[in-house]
Amino acid sequence: MELQTQFESLKHTFEKTLKTTVDLAGLEALRVEFLGRKGKLATLMALLKDLSEEERRMVGTVANETKQAMEQAFDSALAAMKNENISSHAWFDVSEPIFPKESFGHIHPVTQIQQELEDLFTSMGFMVADGPELESDYYNFTALNIPPTHPARDMQDTFYIKGHPDQVMRTQTSPVQVRAMRKYRAPIRMIVPGRCFRNEATDARHEHTFYQLEGLVVDKDIHIGHMKGVLEEVAKHLYDGEANVRLLPKFYPFVEPGVRGEITCFLCRGTGCRVCKQSGWLEVLGAGMVHPSVLREGNVDPEQYQGFAFGFGLSRLAMLKYGVDDSRLMQSGDMKFLTQF
Ligand code: DAH
Repeated sequence: MELQTQFESLKHTFEKTLKTTVDLAGLEALRVEFLGRKGKLATLMALLKDLSEEERRMVGTVANETKQAMEQAFDSALAAMKNENISSHAWFDVSEPIFPKESFGHIHPVTQIQQELEDLFTSMGFMVADGPELESDYYNFTALNIPPTHPARDMQDTFYIKGHPDQVMRTQTSPVQVRAMRKYRAPIRMIVPGRCFRNEATDARHEHTFYQLEGLVVDKDIHIGHMKGVLEEVAKHLYDGEANVRLLPKFYPFVEPGVRGEITCFLCRGTGCRVCKQSGWLEVLGAGMVHPSVLREGNVDPEQYQGFAFGFGLSRLAMLKYGVDDSRLMQSGDMKFLTQF
């Protein structure tokens, strides 16, 4: 074979082998074999000296081009492989602290439901509002059509603050209704998730601290059909699909008419079980059309605007959804309980 052809075929073989080399050690072996001081290229180069001067000039050019091309191909293969090693397996920082998977916390079951509902309501154009946990007696009761002597106050005994008879720990998220109307004016579409308090002798069904999710819509031409539509959306969302809502009359001083809302039982899906006491339904909310006096307290004209309001028991929803039978577990901070969710 002519020397010139030998150079070309050497380059060809080298590039082919280079492509199939997968690690740095392989690359180094290839370098020694082809480009090393006693490698294949050097051996061919040595043959140049036996040629006539004219031939040497011609073949010499090819030889130099071959050498350059091989070295360049080698350098770029080496660079690519080093890069890949850095970004994948070969590099790791031995001084980096390790956090075992179990040591990460996760979202509390009540907060999980709260966040799911916040997503749903914001997708329907509701804003998420907030209000104080230490509330005035006025917003918690009086503004909601529960004057100081009203017997409805007995149903929601709470914690009063020594020396501040006008301050209470809020018993419900409903006080934010009037706060919001005064601040934002009509129309309003909002929800208020939050912590509430009641003076309870705690047992499996009573807890002094719990969570609610309030809702308020005020606009022109709002009727009870809008309310039912929204509540049905919520029920469907909680189940990823089919669920029913039924509304039964119930007295709340700040709505007229008022209803208690029940949804299909999580556990038996309506056929009747221990959790729903064989009824197939679970009471999870109170709702109604906002009472004109409450609109007036919020500086909204009841002749022009109507509204509906609702309050979900978030802690209760979480308990029912996960079949938790003791309300005291929710706030206990007990890891054995919490790590189940
Ligand atoms: N605040 C009520 C409670 O804690 C629940 C409720 C009932 C909220 C009716 C509302 C409503 O907004 O319209 O028992």
